[in-house]
Amino acid sequence: MSTPVPQNKVVQWIEYRLPVFSWAIAHGVDYPAPRNLNYWWTFGSMAMIMLVAQIVTGVLLSMHYTAHVDHAFDSVEHIMRDVEWGWLLRYAHANGASMFFVVVYVHIFRALYYGSYKAPREILWWFGIMLLLLMMATAFLGYVLPWGQMSFWGATVITNLFSAIPWIGGDLVVWLWGGFSVDNPTLNRFFSLHYLLPFVMCGMVFLHLWALHHRKSNNPLGIDIKSPKDTMPFSPYCTTKDLFTGTVMLFVLFVFVFYLPNTLGEAVNYEKANPLQTPAHIVPEWYFLPFYAILRSVPDKLGGVIAMAAAILILFVLPWLDTSKVRSARFRPIYKQLFWVFLADCVVLGWIGAMPAEGVYIVIGRICTIYYFAHFILIMPLLGRFEKTLPLPESIHQSILDKSLKSKTGNIS
Ligand code: HEM
Repeated sequence: MSTPVPQNKVVQWIEYRLPVFSWAIAHGVDYPAPRNLNYWWTFGSMAMIMLVAQIVTGVLLSMHYTAHVDHAFDSVEHIMRDVEWGWLLRYAHANGASMFFVVVYVHIFRALYYGSYKAPREILWWFGIMLLLLMMATAFLGYVLPWGQMSFWGATVITNLFSAIPWIGGDLVVWLWGGFSVDNPTLNRFFSLHYLLPFVMCGMVFLHLWALHHRKSNNPLGIDIKSPKDTMPFSPYCTTKDLFTGTVMLFVLFVFVFYLPNTLGEAVNYEKANPLQTPAHIVPEWYFLPFYAILRSVPDKLGGVIAMAAAILILFVLPWLDTSKVRSARFRPIYKQLFWVFLADCVVLGWIGAMPAEGVYIVIGRICTIYYFAHFILIMPLLGRFEKTLPLPESIHQSILDKSLKSKTGNIS
């Protein structure tokens, strides 16, 4: 039974002209969510909370920020010291970026574990990867804005990577910079794009959720919804769960904001950008480290850039590389183990990305890079063919009934 639109006169007047209320009820209240969704399914809404939080804090920060090489660094200090609650806004925004990546990385690994990228959710998955790319671009551009040493040198190293592209590379970098080095035009355009992209992300999230609601959510069993008995209304069941984990997430974020605000940052970024002095180590933010490790694992500059780009772009074809008919790792005994190996591989890559590119770190980085690609190119296609999967339950509601029956008879005996 669907929830009726309120009979209030104003609501009815608007509804007749633009059915926003019935639309909101259909998608926010009545949406039939699988009744076995677990807490890993709340990370998408946490990502939405973080996107909104970043936009709100970012817009407020930009009211006091000056995008000019002579003033940017000082304007950030001004925000920290003189602007009322400026320190809170800045720390919430800087640490918020990290929290955003934490929840999105968990969100992605959840999708990998339960096979949420497989048919018929490929387009939903693609929108997700585009969101990841947009997030990365936005975070990179934002890091340049305080115009500290790491801002400047990070921007120099990363934009220089484009020069590896044959023929057009050199011109492309000059075009990106708006000059012959990272300078005022660069900072200006980075600020402009950093402001713009989060709104592009909002549009992309809309498409992401449209695709989700069209084909409906996957679930821990990875089987399709077969009857209304397999579902429950999104509100209040999912909304309360989302509110709970959203609150816990904000609590964790504020532990960082209030007690450890600079733990994830680089001390050297509190020094103003100096084009004549390179910092001892140039390291990106933690969320880029696995990709940075892949970049450095290839001894050739162009090869490294291609490998780093491929590490993300390969996700676009994952739905076809994974040949298994079964979605959820719960019924894929070997994939279940290899999922954790892959996760560990990504963590080790992250660690390597933070280490100097020398000696044993290079060797480990190369092994992990090879494994990263082997997971997609070899393991996923072959495993789907040869793995003996476990029998799937008949339906979502039947599996819940069986489980509760088992626990009841277990209690009696
Ligand atoms: C700004 C970033 C993102 C936001 C706000 C977002 C939001 C959401 C929300 C609200 C859901 C439904 C609830 C849930 O399943 O957790 C969802 C589902 C999903 N998202 Fe995202 N997402 C983002 C990024 C990504 C990325 C980067 C990927 C993968 C590369 C991805 C892949 C998926 C998939 C496959 C589902 C379907 C899950 C299922 O039904 O099992 N998302 N997303």
